[in-house]
Amino acid sequence: MVGQIPPQFIDDLLTRVDITDVIDARVPLKKAGKNLQACCPFHNEKSPSFTVSPEKQFYHCFGCGAHGTAIGFLMEYDQMSFPEAIHELADSVGMTVPTSHTIAPNPVKQSLYDLLDKVSQFYIHQLQTHPKRDLFTRYLKQRGLSSATIDHFGIGMAPDGWDNVLKTFGGSQQAIQQLNEAGLLSSNEKGRTYDRFRKRVMFPIRDRRGRVIGFGGRVLDDSTPKYLNSPETPVFHKGHELYGLYQARKANRKLERIVIVEGYMDVIALAEKGISNAVATLGTATTPEHLRQLQRSTPEVVFCFDGDRAGREAAWRAAENALPLLGGNHQLKFMFLPDGEDPDTLVKQYGASVFNERVVAAKNYSDFFFESLESRVDINSLDGRARLVEIARPYLRHIPAGVYRDMFEQRLAERAQTSTSVLHKHLEKAPETQAVIRKPAPVSTGISPVRMAITILLQHPELHAGVGEFDKIATLSQPGSTILVELLETLHQHPHLNTAALLERARETEHGEHLKKLATQTLDLSPKELQHELIGVVEQQQQAALKLRHEFLMAKGLSQLSQQERQEIQQLAMRMKR
Ligand code: GTP
Ligand code: MN
Repeated sequence: MVGQIPPQFIDDLLTRVDITDVIDARVPLKKAGKNLQACCPFHNEKSPSFTVSPEKQFYHCFGCGAHGTAIGFLMEYDQMSFPEAIHELADSVGMTVPTSHTIAPNPVKQSLYDLLDKVSQFYIHQLQTHPKRDLFTRYLKQRGLSSATIDHFGIGMAPDGWDNVLKTFGGSQQAIQQLNEAGLLSSNEKGRTYDRFRKRVMFPIRDRRGRVIGFGGRVLDDSTPKYLNSPETPVFHKGHELYGLYQARKANRKLERIVIVEGYMDVIALAEKGISNAVATLGTATTPEHLRQLQRSTPEVVFCFDGDRAGREAAWRAAENALPLLGGNHQLKFMFLPDGEDPDTLVKQYGASVFNERVVAAKNYSDFFFESLESRVDINSLDGRARLVEIARPYLRHIPAGVYRDMFEQRLAERAQTSTSVLHKHLEKAPETQAVIRKPAPVSTGISPVRMAITILLQHPELHAGVGEFDKIATLSQPGSTILVELLETLHQHPHLNTAALLERARETEHGEHLKKLATQTLDLSPKELQHELIGVVEQQQQAALKLRHEFLMAKGLSQLSQQERQEIQQLAMRMKR
């Protein structure tokens, strides 16, 4: 329960944290007398009435009445829970939240964190003491890494051999079981178990709070796979994590911007040259979840891609995924590197300043968006301009309503040489089936799809009837997944509950307050759109869960799968939509 964090600690925390830093990192503030100001992030306005008082450590909007402390701001703006906000603030000023059993993370996860931390220390220790460490230190040196950088990222080595970790940490059956759960072991068909990571440079992957949650391991030569990552585990989910985010936050009191690059070594090579604000996805595309996390840490995100075709395509995918997160006070930009270079090779050859110049010169989201679409039509002909409107239409619907979308529409009208009123007539008629977005990337309000689905269910419980399968969703460790499933199950058993009844049922639970808030949010969609949205999100979540399980099993390698697992793969494949 929330009340379990000692009030004394919260008092201390609030005297150490400066609310202006907390807010300024998310909503850039301007000085106005002894206060600071900005356009309010909680309602739409053109002149600033959102005021932050450093003296009172309090914010207040004269327009919409929003107000609160740094904790309240994080809860509202980043949609964090109370304990999440406390942890976030404590991390930012280097305080540790006193743990009482009620707020400690679940014990299974905690023991995995502990184990992963010890194994990470083991890999580091090997790099310092192993008789064959030279091979590894030479490799790291050849890649230009100083010992300070190696320390900073906790880089280590997994020695050659089948059971270095197993021998050191697998003293009992239970310990072996734990190593397995932490993703540190592999096994063959005969049931023989051995170390997953062998003869590799080891990069520990940390979560936002600095806990080791998994590893990436790189070979020293050209053998494959070049990188081996930890599999999905209870604490490691590739699609959520960003390599280097913890280090970037640690190195910068305030992150003016974050650059997303493609590889571990890019993050590290940039840091080596003093560019300490780069992060990388773990070999996946940038998901909305990634972006949401980044927007909590910085007002500006710059995507960095290769300049080749694959890079452009990846950039466009990132742009699509970012649509629901546009607007507000966040900037998204794109930069492209010369063909054949990655950030690592670029900074090595030309130095940090050349890279930084490119970052500063990155394209605005809207420029990239319109350039990409316009490259598909002949903007000089009437037909081409009409086509531009057609292809832009499905995208615009995914931008949260507000100033940003208005300006997007205005620009589209200009480029198409028409007026916004003519444009609007067409945009409103947008057929639902036209969605170009690959995944249903719903949400028109900027909140996460899962929260959106929960909100819709709370406000329109009767819509649950149209929802398809949702049996796998609870396996996703996304915030809200379990709440969503609980709501769906409750409504499945008691189809006639109304909003008030749902809220009463949740009153004694830890998310009761949160649900109450969601229940009062306005949803600017027609009943038909709401239903479409709800069904879309549930299907998307279910599909994501099926896919995750499928990937998990496939990653084991065919030879290592049990008969039962092979059957499961077939069943999963049948249920997955391409
Ligand atoms: P090097 O500079 O060659 O060390 O690698 P890099 O960091 O430049 O990585 P690269 O651009 O080749 O790949 C980008 C990212 O994709 C890596 O950081 C990994 O996350 C991922 N990746 C690359 N190769 C593999 C692979 O063989 N298997 C897996 N699972 N991921 C990979
Ligand atoms: Mn590289």
